[in-house]
Amino acid sequence: MSQTCHDRIIAPSVLASDWGRVAEEVQRATSAGADWLHLDAMDGHFVKNISFGPQFVAAIRPHTDLPLDVHLMLTHPQNYLEAFIKAGADRITVHVEADHDVSDTLRKIRDAGLKTGLALNPATPIEDAIPFLSEIDLLLVMTVVPGFGGQSFMEDETMPKVAAAKTMREEQGLDYHIQVDGGIDAETVNIAGTNGANVMVAGTALFGQEDMAAAVTGMRG
Ligand code: DX5
Ligand code: ZN
Repeated sequence: MSQTCHDRIIAPSVLASDWGRVAEEVQRATSAGADWLHLDAMDGHFVKNISFGPQFVAAIRPHTDLPLDVHLMLTHPQNYLEAFIKAGADRITVHVEADHDVSDTLRKIRDAGLKTGLALNPATPIEDAIPFLSEIDLLLVMTVVPGFGGQSFMEDETMPKVAAAKTMREEQGLDYHIQVDGGIDAETVNIAGTNGANVMVAGTALFGQEDMAAAVTGMRG
């Protein structure tokens, strides 16, 4: 099965870029060798911060050919799918804790031809994702409490879930990426990788570097 050959994917989070010159920042990530661009939409309700919506994603779309990996930290993701799809998202990840029919939301994303992701907050047990594992292309194990960039990696609370997600993928013959998001840097990336994560989202540790290409290469391990 293909689950044995998930190459490491590096996804810079635009949240940590300089939004005043975001087109250049997106181009900087693209030339640095990033694989995907990660876009964190926050509604000020599901998380204690407001970031951006579909218009921002649409503004970024013409500036890169990289897949746009949109992470919806929204209480009602089902109401905004169409807008993010039109904006040019390639992948949409929704939270299992949000107020929606998870299977129905995932189906709508898939039917539009996008890749589906399901996210778990640090306090949410892996068990909550089990009913949906056959419906997803990606499982996002949040490694910080979502809302803000620049927080510390929560190893003890989250790495057992990454390892369990990997074991279940093998046992059940499933095929989903395991993504980590929050506090990922040159060191924690390897802890996450060892436990089974293959999609590494990093904001501060990539956009904060003068030489982003070196930072991306360093994270490939
Ligand atoms: C949290 C976001 C982030 C994020 C990563 O709500 O999903 O985790 O952009 O930021 P860093 O890499 O700075 O922790
Ligand atoms: Zn994110």
